[in-house]
Amino acid sequence: MSTLWHGRFEGGPAQELMAFTVSLPFDQRLAADDIVGSRAHVRGLCRAGILSEVERDAVLAALDAVAAELQAGTFEFVPSDEDIHTAVERRVTELAGPAGAKLHTGRSRNDQVATDLRLFTRRELGAIAARIVTLQETLLDRARDAGDAYLPGYTHLQRAQPVLLAHHLLAHGWALARDLDRLHDTIGRLDISPLGAGALAGSSLPLDPAGTAADLGFAGVFDNSLDAVSDRDFVAEALFDLALVGVHLSRLAEEVILWSTDEFGFLRLDDAYSTGSSMLPQKKNPDIAELTRGKTGRLIGNLTGLLAMLKGLPLAYNRDLQEDKEPLFDSLDTVALALAAMTGLLASSTFNLDVMAVAADAPTSTATDLAEHLVAGGVPFRDAHAIVGALVRRSLDEGIALRELVAASPDLGPDALGLLDRGVAVRRRTTPGGAGPAAVAPQMEAFERTVIAARASVRE
Ligand code: ARG
Repeated sequence: MSTLWHGRFEGGPAQELMAFTVSLPFDQRLAADDIVGSRAHVRGLCRAGILSEVERDAVLAALDAVAAELQAGTFEFVPSDEDIHTAVERRVTELAGPAGAKLHTGRSRNDQVATDLRLFTRRELGAIAARIVTLQETLLDRARDAGDAYLPGYTHLQRAQPVLLAHHLLAHGWALARDLDRLHDTIGRLDISPLGAGALAGSSLPLDPAGTAADLGFAGVFDNSLDAVSDRDFVAEALFDLALVGVHLSRLAEEVILWSTDEFGFLRLDDAYSTGSSMLPQKKNPDIAELTRGKTGRLIGNLTGLLAMLKGLPLAYNRDLQEDKEPLFDSLDTVALALAAMTGLLASSTFNLDVMAVAADAPTSTATDLAEHLVAGGVPFRDAHAIVGALVRRSLDEGIALRELVAASPDLGPDALGLLDRGVAVRRRTTPGGAGPAAVAPQMEAFERTVIAARASVRE
């Protein structure tokens, strides 16, 4: 078996070595980016006078042929192809002969793989961003459709105060807006070309890293060759961003799971987005939401695994770094699928608005309004809180309707009864950013503007 390093070695590698160290099964995914990087490198070598124009064109044509073979599935890998970089270079040399053998001049797989992975991550995070915007658009549509419908808002998963359903849905939308910001920040920071750093120290050849950086559309070029080949901050950031998207989806999923129980009854899942039971004929299960919640554990694991892998590495490249790819690929795939599934689930499910309203109209959820009514009349809030708290306790202990106790209360009286009417409490949440219709209307407009801008930013 002929390796890239066979000159220095007597005999071929052990079978166990190859079995343990190959990355081809997963890094094939970088093939298209590897070819893009190689094209830029070849053009750079020509500009530097290392390749003639004829040689450059021969290598570029071979790279095109390799791209076509990979695309068509006709590319034949051989056992010595330990990674995608080796495979592409081998085939280019087969096709272009001596000119092909010049492809790797002034380059190491260390700057090559870092370049490939940055190109790949830049594009893939952009694709995730687009999917996030689609989910935001769905949340916005559902929030608009919800109109003035309301449900109990919860703290400690205990009913607290009524909130508009639109307000609740948009809360998830704003979390996703922060996720988008983070992805764009990560993309901005990773947009640096490591090509030209070589194995670790640059080159004696007159390479121009800035030229290949511009050719590849990178916003900048590395300042330090050691850093360029060993930096995987962008993978760690991407994994954190994706883990947090997962955490946000998981919290939304948890509500879908709760809301679709008979106990809550707020949400009915569409048949196409739920599953049945093999034994219990009546069951309709929220598997999408459960797997979104479950797979978030993997997303967090991918982040912590990568950080643990990185923490002990001396400069510069170490083979440990090969372990950056599988968690990245896995997190990208997991989040892409979860976003699509949760978007479909939300778009197709039915909100049981009557059930929500009945739950929110429980008289006790107006307790804060009763206290604030007393405050408006000059009672200190702490005293008002105690007065209303005592009424609630009596109502629960003695089974007397709160309404009766309010009417009979010397502090509150019949004037306060209107506060207990259906739908009144939520309309009173009027402060900016609050949960009532008057405050949600401008919030909805602001969110719509945010989503329109986000859509434009992912289309660029
Ligand atoms: N497959 C390797 C990786 O993913 C490519 C770089 C190998 N470099 C080396 N010096 N062995 O990291």
